[in-house]
Amino acid sequence: MVKSIHLIVGARPNLMKAGPLLKSLRECDDFSPLLVDTGQHYDHEMYGIFMAEFGMGAPDIQLKVGSGSHGEQTSKILYKYEQVLLEQKPDAIIVIGDVNSTVACALAASKLHIPVIHLEAGLRSHDRGMPEEINRLLTDQLADLLWTPSPDGDEHLLASGIPIERIDRVGNIMIDTLVSMLPTIEKNSNSQHFKLTPMTYSVVTLHRPSNVDVPVVLNQLLDELIQLEPSLHVVWPMHPRTRARIIAIGRMDELIEHGIEISQPLGYVDFMSLVSNSRMVITDSGGIQEETSWLGIPCLTLRPNTERPITITEGTNRLITPELFSVSVKQILENDIRKKVKIDLWDGKTAERCIASLKRFFAV
Ligand code: UD1
Repeated sequence: MVKSIHLIVGARPNLMKAGPLLKSLRECDDFSPLLVDTGQHYDHEMYGIFMAEFGMGAPDIQLKVGSGSHGEQTSKILYKYEQVLLEQKPDAIIVIGDVNSTVACALAASKLHIPVIHLEAGLRSHDRGMPEEINRLLTDQLADLLWTPSPDGDEHLLASGIPIERIDRVGNIMIDTLVSMLPTIEKNSNSQHFKLTPMTYSVVTLHRPSNVDVPVVLNQLLDELIQLEPSLHVVWPMHPRTRARIIAIGRMDELIEHGIEISQPLGYVDFMSLVSNSRMVITDSGGIQEETSWLGIPCLTLRPNTERPITITEGTNRLITPELFSVSVKQILENDIRKKVKIDLWDGKTAERCIASLKRFFAV
């Protein structure tokens, strides 16, 4: 019998992972997928544009929860998604990554004894100061089938007592998206739109509360970026949280006066095109650490830890503090050249492995 599956998406980083899986689920006769959108993110630039680019179509179910505190947002999703589950009773749900929608929907389904599958399971920053780490820990405990991207994921799950039978290493699904979109990314002329010469600029993205919500830290980072601008042009597609914080401390005009190029958040193809022609990326995102590693572009991550250590051991990523900012940039400018790396199961075939795993799970 055809199995009904809910695929849950809520925030921007879910969409690069949901795209290829939704496509594979739709192509497989054994499964009938419905796309559930919690509405955690809602702006066109933060969300809608990605759904369109990945050809996902309109969501089948929309919870429209919007922004709020963590407790407010998580509880709204839990409550609204429970109502949906009581009516629909799917055979399983798939949750992705580590956002509030992930843990909220996993909890709603788990309490109703509906199997939960977690895509991108097992990642750990070992830093409970990050809201995402709490979401990862809880979602993995609730999940019935855990799809990991890398061996460290398996190790964390086993160490937390999750039986090996529930763990399936499928690989990095975001790379499926990158592989399939690469021809479009390469044809895109977004860097021309910004009037940029390849390899002469850096791309900055910052949005973690630990970097942008604390004025002392944010001021220090802005000082560093202003100092960097004359030697390496800074292009910064800005997250709404960050924009609001910079406006609040009154420094937006100063950044623009110093030549830093600030834009709205960009869609996937425009953003990846900008990144792929850049000299280096400075970020605090999770996914960008992986994308730059696959593309072979030096990446400086402004965080004390990462849940994606493989990007350091095998990729192009380096963790830095604001104090190490200028010396790390200098080192890259003097030494680092692009180096393509090959990481196991970063091959564009993760969605295929997810479908095979799902068939084993249901024994169909
Ligand atoms: C969320 C995820 C984070 C992910 C990030 C990517 C959690 C705990 N965090 O953080 O893991 O890396 O998304 O963007 O789930 N806002 C808009 N438009 C939108 C969405 C948000 O203006 O479409 C504003 C909100 O009003 C809020 C701010 O952006 O002021 C932050 O949004 P929020 O969803 O709370 O968390 P993110 O920081 O985006």
